[in-house]
Amino acid sequence: MTAAAIEARGLGKDFGSIRALDHLDLEVREGEFFGFLGPNGAGKTTTVHLLATLLRPTRGAARVAGYDVVRDDLQTRRSIGLVFQETTLDRDLTVEENLRFAARLWNLPGRVAAPRIAELLGQFGLLERRRDRVRALAGGMRRALDIARGMLHEPRVLFLDEPTAGLDPRARRSLWELLQRLRAASGLTVFLTTHYVEEAEPCDRVAVLDRGRLAALGTPAELKRAAGVQSLEDVFLARTGHPLAEPSAA
Ligand SMILES: Nc1ncnc2c1ncn2[C@@H]1O[C@H](COP(=O)(O)OP(=O)(O)O)[C@@H](O)[C@H]1O
Ligand SMILES: [Mg+2]
Repeated sequence: MTAAAIEARGLGKDFGSIRALDHLDLEVREGEFFGFLGPNGAGKTTTVHLLATLLRPTRGAARVAGYDVVRDDLQTRRSIGLVFQETTLDRDLTVEENLRFAARLWNLPGRVAAPRIAELLGQFGLLERRRDRVRALAGGMRRALDIARGMLHEPRVLFLDEPTAGLDPRARRSLWELLQRLRAASGLTVFLTTHYVEEAEPCDRVAVLDRGRLAALGTPAELKRAAGVQSLEDVFLARTGHPLAEPSAA
């Protein structure tokens, strides 16, 4: 029997009087490429941090890779890769040094780490840049390195929090292609948050989050059919009564 890769039951988080996540019921299957779509402030990062054991839920429970995120926090952390919304690489270290440093944090012995790092450098198109300092890399390459580092310990579930935010359209496209290859090559489960409908569109299923609440859940085709609209943007509008992108926020 295979457990769901991610399972949330009544999951919620308050910051004082701010209800960042109200009540989330969700199941993500193993191997699924799952999109978590919502505008700024919807509660996407909060959800990722709850599932990744960085925050403690105020309500409800969640399991990731079969582990309870509160009770089995250590096992949960070993099973997941997490790529933060903001890069957390050391800019003064080279590409390879960043990976080696992370390998040490994961306690990977050298004989395991060295081939794994070589494999990831190849997979993420970073082989030729491996001796360059991170500060010399363009945004898209940095993001690729962030993700490569998240994959170092061969996680079963990869969380990507707005991986392409701040990148130019070309870098976004190439990073997106990289993610699609990654998904095809392994049984990895990917949980990706985004406020771009173009990124939610190719996901297996999408959860639409608004103001801490799940507004819709299904395949992009199902969501559009059910709402009787042509785009995920219109699904968002139909389900929440307001547009996904606020004109004031560029
Ligand atoms: N550490 C925190 N303390 C107080 N409020 C927070 C904190 N983190 C997030 N929030 C609030 O919770 C809500 C959801 O935030 P967040 O999960 O970051 O949304 P998103 O990632 O979708 O933009 C927002 O109103 C945000 O201001
Ligand atoms: Mg966020």
